[in-house]
Amino acid sequence: MRMYDIIMKKRNGQELSEEEIRFFVEGYTRGQIPDYQVSALMMAIYFRKMTERETLSLTMAMVESGEMLDLSAIRGIKVDKHSTGGVGDKTSLALTPMVAACGIPVAKMSGRGLGHTGGTIDKLESFPGFTTALTKEQFIRNVNEIGIAIMGQTKDLAPADKKLYALRDVTATVDNMSLIASSIMSKKLAAGADAIILDVKTGSGAFMKAEKDAFALAEEMVRIGRNAGRYTAAVVSDMDQPLGYAVGNALEVEEAVETLKGNGPEDFLELCLTLGSYMLLAGGAARQEEEAREKLKKVIADGSALQKLAGFVEAQGGDPKAVYDTGLLPKAAIVEPVPAPIDGYVSHIECDEIGICSLLLGGGRETKESRIDLSVGIVLKKKTGDPVKAGEPLAYLHANDRQKAEAAKERFLKAYSFSDTPVQKVGLIKGIVE
Ligand code: URA
Repeated sequence: MRMYDIIMKKRNGQELSEEEIRFFVEGYTRGQIPDYQVSALMMAIYFRKMTERETLSLTMAMVESGEMLDLSAIRGIKVDKHSTGGVGDKTSLALTPMVAACGIPVAKMSGRGLGHTGGTIDKLESFPGFTTALTKEQFIRNVNEIGIAIMGQTKDLAPADKKLYALRDVTATVDNMSLIASSIMSKKLAAGADAIILDVKTGSGAFMKAEKDAFALAEEMVRIGRNAGRYTAAVVSDMDQPLGYAVGNALEVEEAVETLKGNGPEDFLELCLTLGSYMLLAGGAARQEEEAREKLKKVIADGSALQKLAGFVEAQGGDPKAVYDTGLLPKAAIVEPVPAPIDGYVSHIECDEIGICSLLLGGGRETKESRIDLSVGIVLKKKTGDPVKAGEPLAYLHANDRQKAEAAKERFLKAYSFSDTPVQKVGLIKGIVE
């Protein structure tokens, strides 16, 4: 088999066989096929697209390019959750203890922030001492004993995706539906859960800006999961404005903790209840969506979800006292309002710009080597549809550097649009793909 023939076949719009797909994935992972040939193939795939069969073959070849986690030592149905990424998306922080408190084991691999989007691991590190550097044995033991464990993605998990993703990133071949779907699903399938619940974001803060593209991606991923024999469902949710009010690592932890204490923002709580219901249904802890929602509300009301979070934080080296007293989380020295420039209604928020403001404050990485400031970020006071008076705070910036705060403030104001007339609030759940 020759790489040249595979490139030409795809360039001419023909379907690649499973053997051909395996040949290039395995050859590339081992360093036997050069970047320039794989780049040419990625570009051919970008223009010619992949069939459902090809997409599944690519996913499985990437899954099998490295280690697959064996979670069989964990009792019960393991349910994983994945978000395609957004701004203020602290869902895993509240959702995983809620689900674990309902008896569903959560064995989750998470990532760090990427570009304007935040990452669960960075956020969790706001708990002093917290670590995700667990051995596989500790990971499994913690899930069995506490019901929840989160670790970082190991380098052995879907290494083909890691190499291909880095190549796509610099060859303008990221945004192809089959390539995105296979990339995400290869990591999820290799991570070993029995069921996968996906949160596919759409809007100005998301990877998929257009709703129809988000649904197409959700359908593609659900099809892959089903074909791979795992129950998979996707919730398509809004990311046209930040989720909840807090953006920034420790600030988001605080909002997630408040949600588990029963004081969460309406949109964030709704997303946790929707995703959580699907997780409980997939894990066999409820038979009807209504029953699942009631169980999830109950573990907030009786404090067991908050306790679960504290147990999980402690088991991974973090200070559980910070769960009960969020004053112990990192705090920024400067808290400054961003006043509204005019009277009116918030008509639109350029959501990715809000993520960039948090990054400018030091809450994200400019380069892979950057150290992030866990204390900084933004707490919104006004969201789309809200009425505002000139001079009223649109948000508070939490900063440790005056210059950075000024730069972020300027950018923040440009992200908001206003209207003279009332504006409809944005609906959070766009649909479910099962
Ligand atoms: N996230 C991934 O993991 N892979 C992609 O291709 C895009 C987003």
